[in-house]
Amino acid sequence: MKIALSATALCVIPAVVALSISPSSDLPPSTTTSSGDADPTLDSLSARFIAKGKKYWGTATDIGLLLNNTVNEAIVRSQSFLIIHKLTPENSMKWDIIEKTRYAFNFIDSDYLVDYARSTGKLVRGHTFIWHSQLPSWVSAIKDAATLTEVIENHISSVGTRYSGRVYSWDVCNELFTAEGTMRYSVFYSVLGETFVSLAFNAVRKYDQTAKLYINDYNMVSNATQRFLSMINHVKTWISSGVPIDGIGTQAHLSAGVAGDVQAALSALAGSGVSEVAITELDIVQASPSDYVTVTKACLAVSACVGITNWGVSDKESWRTQDKPLLFDNYYRPKPAYEAIIAALT
Ligand code: XIL
Repeated sequence: MKIALSATALCVIPAVVALSISPSSDLPPSTTTSSGDADPTLDSLSARFIAKGKKYWGTATDIGLLLNNTVNEAIVRSQSFLIIHKLTPENSMKWDIIEKTRYAFNFIDSDYLVDYARSTGKLVRGHTFIWHSQLPSWVSAIKDAATLTEVIENHISSVGTRYSGRVYSWDVCNELFTAEGTMRYSVFYSVLGETFVSLAFNAVRKYDQTAKLYINDYNMVSNATQRFLSMINHVKTWISSGVPIDGIGTQAHLSAGVAGDVQAALSALAGSGVSEVAITELDIVQASPSDYVTVTKACLAVSACVGITNWGVSDKESWRTQDKPLLFDNYYRPKPAYEAIIAALT
């Protein structure tokens, strides 16, 4: 396959990295080639995915892994406009980082990520505004609707205005449902009831008219669970009542062997009335090549599926490191799953 490189894209390639593409072992990594160029077989995942009609292949990352880990950063940067075409801040846009203290906003980490993405030609998925987790205790302690409404609107207006026009999509609400299909307990739900959903989506739309607005959740890969059905039913209802929901994200922190359900799940999510769906946090226990290929093909087969994001580059930094669930091993070498995806996209 011919991969077109623009001059702009080429000039961001530093003479580093070209990782060995031999299967994982305990050998130390090879970090250079004689030419200093990136290995062409590595420069192809996102490009090949995009060539098949998708918008991106992305990764979660953050300031620490970009500033302090040169090998990781080199994967994200030098091959990234092809391998990785989209970044999600793993933690830096969460409420407890951005507004740990009321009205005291800290944009250092998130600015770094957004600026880095722009300077290396990548899209950004903003993650996340309304989530019960990584939420400062001062927000959780709010008891009255007027205060919580004002706090949500102020948080969203501050962050939304800052990054307006610079993010491809926002996870406006994250993990709203329980396994039983009820709305999860959170300060948002207990103080405002379901109205916090409409409040949040409308607030983000007010400050960013171009970003795609997502609802994101886990265990969204089997279309028979109560959590899944609740997502579909709620999104249908919310959209019909005018809540500006553009997309549903399925996190896809998968166990081994369940990838076969993903295509049907993506189709069902797309059928809820959203204009797009995405696999937003993909990692698969032990990273079986066939599971990864199945997930890749599932997104290819569903036209509304715009892209796939891995939840990190290397197993070494994965939030599930013991499961070795990512495409690069502890030495930052591409794993068999990576090679299998490339082969499937060829
Ligand atoms: C995780 C991060 O990867 C960890 O570094 C952090 O300690 C906890 O959160 N669902 C989500 C992500 O939406 O934000 C979570 O990320 C993983 C589960």
